[in-house]
Amino acid sequence: MVKLHDKYFKPFISAKQIDDVMQRLATEIANDVGDEIPVFVGILNGSFMVVSDFVKKYPKPCEVTFIKLASYEGVKSTEDIQRLIGLTQDLTGRTVIILEDIIDTGNTLAEVHRIFKNEKVKSLKIATLFYKPEAYKKDFKLHYVGIEIPNKFIVGYGLDYDGLGRNLPEVYQIKQTQHMTNLVLFGPPGAGKGTQAEFLKEKYDLVHISTGDVFRFNIKNETALGMLAKSYIDKGQLVPDQVTIDMLNAEVEKNAGAKGFIFDGFPRTNAQAESLDKLMDSKDSQINAMIALEVEDEILVERLLGRGKTSGRADDANETIIRNRITEYYNKTAILKDYYSAQDKYFGVNGVGSIEEITERLSSTIDNL
Ligand code: IMP
Ligand code: MG
Repeated sequence: MVKLHDKYFKPFISAKQIDDVMQRLATEIANDVGDEIPVFVGILNGSFMVVSDFVKKYPKPCEVTFIKLASYEGVKSTEDIQRLIGLTQDLTGRTVIILEDIIDTGNTLAEVHRIFKNEKVKSLKIATLFYKPEAYKKDFKLHYVGIEIPNKFIVGYGLDYDGLGRNLPEVYQIKQTQHMTNLVLFGPPGAGKGTQAEFLKEKYDLVHISTGDVFRFNIKNETALGMLAKSYIDKGQLVPDQVTIDMLNAEVEKNAGAKGFIFDGFPRTNAQAESLDKLMDSKDSQINAMIALEVEDEILVERLLGRGKTSGRADDANETIIRNRITEYYNKTAILKDYYSAQDKYFGVNGVGSIEEITERLSSTIDNL
């Protein structure tokens, strides 16, 4: 991943792939041009790398010149194309091939055609390394296209974001979601997970997604997914992972601008952890850490029995039930501990101490991610 100014970009097209495409374009164009000596015209600034690599691969004599146009502001193409350096040589009767780094809306290309309208060239052809068909609004023919790409902003290999990134030898694509901190929070019953989740949410501006709450919300509001989940629950069956993932996806999308998420109550199995990784990946993001509050069994039992006396919660009042819940927790989370440890993402945090002390330990773990 690279960060340029305020934005993050992920690897998209490797230097090797670009090299192969440049080779193909050079060979194809050389074959079509035959015995002519073509003039390759690069459109500055972006195309300097394209032109340089292209002409090194071009197997026959050729000439090279540049014109300089400017259209982009930040990550948006504008209508207003400035002609900074025009044609500086007479191209009458010549075979001209424009070499572009990228064709997006086609505004720049329209300006190129305006420039050549009164030049009596023998032929004018357009070659571009990258082409965004979904963004293209003109109908000028593109004679040679290297790679068609989706309508997303890219940098590298001559292309910049506000001046930066041109020197990267490979191409990067803008991340859909910017930098997020996504946590999977675990803790045995009585570890203080709820209290700490509240705090983390505040301090890091995260959205807390508790699977239990999400289920209750969807079922209560009779959303399509809620009804679907209920149909399984009513039959006494487990809700399929895909339904849960779809609900989580909806929560993540509802909070598209979030700085990150705390997942609570999910995943519980390896398959679910994999689905969650896929979900985050589809958002150009990832789970950064599984954080598990660690508290000795005896302390948990003591805390829960204490809580049972005041709360009246039946499952907090009976020591055997409490011990079973704790055992079950460790049985279930052991798999996930392995899953996240394998990715170096497991962090056990000592959950014994005052609320503030535990909060402090969690913060320093997160700050070090
Ligand atoms: P067009 O005029 O919209 O076709 O855009 C052409 C020019 O905009 C290119 O020559 C680039 O300078 C710039 N451009 C278009 N798309 C991108 C991109 O994804 N990244 C960086 N620059 C871009
Ligand atoms: Mg350009």
